[in-house]
Amino acid sequence: MAGRLFLPVAIPRACAGNPPDAEASHVQPMMKTNTASPAATMDTYSTPTSHSHFDGVDLQQLAERIATPFHAYSASAIRQRIGELQSALAGLDAGICFAVKANSNLAILQLMAQAGVGADIVSVGELRRALNAGIPAERIVFSGVGKSADEIAGALNVGIMRFNVESLDELHTLQRLAKTQEVTARAAVRINPDVDAQTHAKISTGKSENKFGVSIDEARRWFASRKRLSHVQLDGLHVHIGSQILSVEPFRLALQRVAAFWRELEQAGHPINSIDVGGGLGVCYRAGVDKPVAASDYVGVIREALADYRGKLLLEPGRYLVAEAGVLLTRVIRVKPGVERSFLVLDAAMNDLQRPSLYDAWHDIVPVTDAPRPMTTYDIVGPVCETGDTFARGRELPECEAGELLLIKATGAYGTSMASTYNSRPLAAEVLLNQGRYAVVRRRQHFEEMIAGEQPARNWETP
Ligand SMILES: Cc1ncc(COP(=O)(O)O)c(C=O)c1O
Repeated sequence: MAGRLFLPVAIPRACAGNPPDAEASHVQPMMKTNTASPAATMDTYSTPTSHSHFDGVDLQQLAERIATPFHAYSASAIRQRIGELQSALAGLDAGICFAVKANSNLAILQLMAQAGVGADIVSVGELRRALNAGIPAERIVFSGVGKSADEIAGALNVGIMRFNVESLDELHTLQRLAKTQEVTARAAVRINPDVDAQTHAKISTGKSENKFGVSIDEARRWFASRKRLSHVQLDGLHVHIGSQILSVEPFRLALQRVAAFWRELEQAGHPINSIDVGGGLGVCYRAGVDKPVAASDYVGVIREALADYRGKLLLEPGRYLVAEAGVLLTRVIRVKPGVERSFLVLDAAMNDLQRPSLYDAWHDIVPVTDAPRPMTTYDIVGPVCETGDTFARGRELPECEAGELLLIKATGAYGTSMASTYNSRPLAAEVLLNQGRYAVVRRRQHFEEMIAGEQPARNWETP
């Protein structure tokens, strides 16, 4: 171990209510609001068929002020999703820890903090973001299969709520570092329940062949020898079987296995003070096709499987809280007729939204103006030099021309958090919308920022 703590006193403390970046986030004056706009809902466009306004903001006007491509998030829609989940959990001793990896923008994390939502983090960078946004350490859980010793030490140092431990080596490291710091770490074992989440293979995490968690047999051995852990309080269970799950059945199966194990542990004299049921709740990417599970049905499964459990419940939703609250605004650079297909070349690319190229993910794509036009079929692509830089193949769309403003929908989760500067394309701006107003919550990256830290090889050294 490097012996260096990442996060001693220098860690930015909570700043709830403060803008994440004074320059970037000042609230802009009212845009012309769409008075016909319904009360903010998750589908917070002007009407179900018109996409001219989002959370009361005129998107054409917005795109005149902010260069495309940029991401826009509806604060109203995020608050609504949080509210739906909190209502479904009413009466339970349950805490929501937003999976920061889904969208780690400080303004989004501040919305979470303001609603009393904690954080599920997987790196020290996410820890710093969560604390910086005002999420208290006591509401932060640390998941992930590869926490480094430095990261564990840093999280111990700020006193996070709980570590979701995924291997015996990690458990021993946690014990050693907690002893060094003379603190007691609270820990849950992440169970791999060997359940097929029936989702894309790359976001499926609960099968025994996956790298995540440990088997119930292994977890049983950990508890049997838990008394030897002088500085780790092993009193929790954790499970997360995957993401974009569109049926309650995988959740039910996983929770039944966890519940059976919890009962066995209680009988063996191992009290379980917290059960973290993970995230994974799916959303609608393809209107009319994806049928997400309602929060109430999902929580119904938790209530049923853990009916007699009296400890603390934790949930780690990411996508569910933010995906449908985000859109990617992009303009058509040109329409390129090809030999076999017609290409709509956008100014957004796979570096701004990786999901289509990484998972062959579907995103609904619509023009912002809803003027009636003949329909045609396009391959919708970005400018990056990869055939994989394709948002949609053979997609029916109203005929478009250069300069046309389009919306790629449901991009609020795993959009900017997975963005890159591939092809030396700067990171896109992010804008938070709220009932007719907008605030830039990340300005578009400057070229100088993109190359900061790079330098010619000058001072050659020998290790
Ligand atoms: C441990 C853990 N918890 C929660 C989540 C969030 O999942 P989702 O965004 O599908 O809710 C993830 C996603 O990968 C995860 O790995």
